[in-house]
Amino acid sequence: MQPKSNIVHLPVYQPGKPVEDVKRELGLEEVIKLASNENPFGYSEQAKAAIINELGQISTYPDGASFELTAAVAQKFGVETNQIIFGTGSSDIILMLARTYLAPGDETIMADETFSQYKHNCEIENARIIEVPLKDGKHDLPAMLARITDRTKLVWVCNPNNPTGTIVNEEELTAFLDQVPKDVLVVLDEAYCEFVKEPGFPDGIQLLKKYRNLIVLRTFSKIYGLASVRIGYGIGHADVIQYMNQIREPFNTTRLGQVAAKASLSDEDFVAFCREQNRAGIEYFYSQFDRLGLNYFPAHGNFVMVDAKIPSGDVFQALLRKGVIVRPRWTYYPTHIRVSVGTPDQNEKFIAAFEQVLQEAAVRG
Ligand SMILES: Cc1ncc(COP(=O)(O)O)c(C=O)c1O
Repeated sequence: MQPKSNIVHLPVYQPGKPVEDVKRELGLEEVIKLASNENPFGYSEQAKAAIINELGQISTYPDGASFELTAAVAQKFGVETNQIIFGTGSSDIILMLARTYLAPGDETIMADETFSQYKHNCEIENARIIEVPLKDGKHDLPAMLARITDRTKLVWVCNPNNPTGTIVNEEELTAFLDQVPKDVLVVLDEAYCEFVKEPGFPDGIQLLKKYRNLIVLRTFSKIYGLASVRIGYGIGHADVIQYMNQIREPFNTTRLGQVAAKASLSDEDFVAFCREQNRAGIEYFYSQFDRLGLNYFPAHGNFVMVDAKIPSGDVFQALLRKGVIVRPRWTYYPTHIRVSVGTPDQNEKFIAAFEQVLQEAAVRG
């Protein structure tokens, strides 16, 4: 039996290493995971109450159309309910976009170092992938625009970008969107937008009024801290959402995800708290990296990409032995690691371990 030839070479997704694995493999009691951009402050108490309240219902299928959650999102963002689609995390929205729009040989454009699931899902559809180098860790929108042809179907813009954490501003984004042909769909992945404090950061949902060929992706996995209940969403033009609904798995979200997401949306205090804590964590990392003489990209999400100046796989292994998990091995940044912001205590432990690792490497020469 042979699978489709275009999937034979695909790697299985490598998530951040689980804490339990590291404890078991290395016999460590305390392990800190700063590898998957999760929320170290947990999730909203209101979401917890909603989950507990729903537990009696989990033997019956969820509402496939997420009626109540859709209404809550529509109200919060001032969009129509037929502009919204939910998925098993926004990863599922990415999959549905590739599945809906890409036929073999169609072209799709993305940055060369960005969220890996864009490329992965486009490869499954046998599309031709055009990767455009980041410029100083940032999306090079004019270069991406220049690569659009009459075969281009989807263009992916991750803002803030994972893994570099950089952003494109509203002026840059609208200048780009003004020139993208109307039959090319731009996917604006805003998984980390709620963390951004920078003035001039675009709100993709506001741009939907002007650009019909735009879809904005968001998730409850990051600032809302609901990564394990798997719920994310896309907001776009009703026609785009309709086609995606036609290929959506019938029950691609769960009861627990739906109620937790709805409750989380109204807990603005929790979101504000996480945003402030995250910013303080980033500022702390900046100050420590400056002290250590290390370069890093401007970080707008809940993670920082820092240049350790030695191979990142070695840094990863050495940090692991000290009980800290980070994300190494970036194709175009071989000496950078990506570290998620943790609690103040976790951040300090990471810095202490990282400094030791760098010192040990310097001694070995
Ligand atoms: C940029 C970006 N988009 C989407 C996702 C998918 O998140 P989820 O499927 O948990 O919503 C992630 C997860 O790390 C991400 O970094």
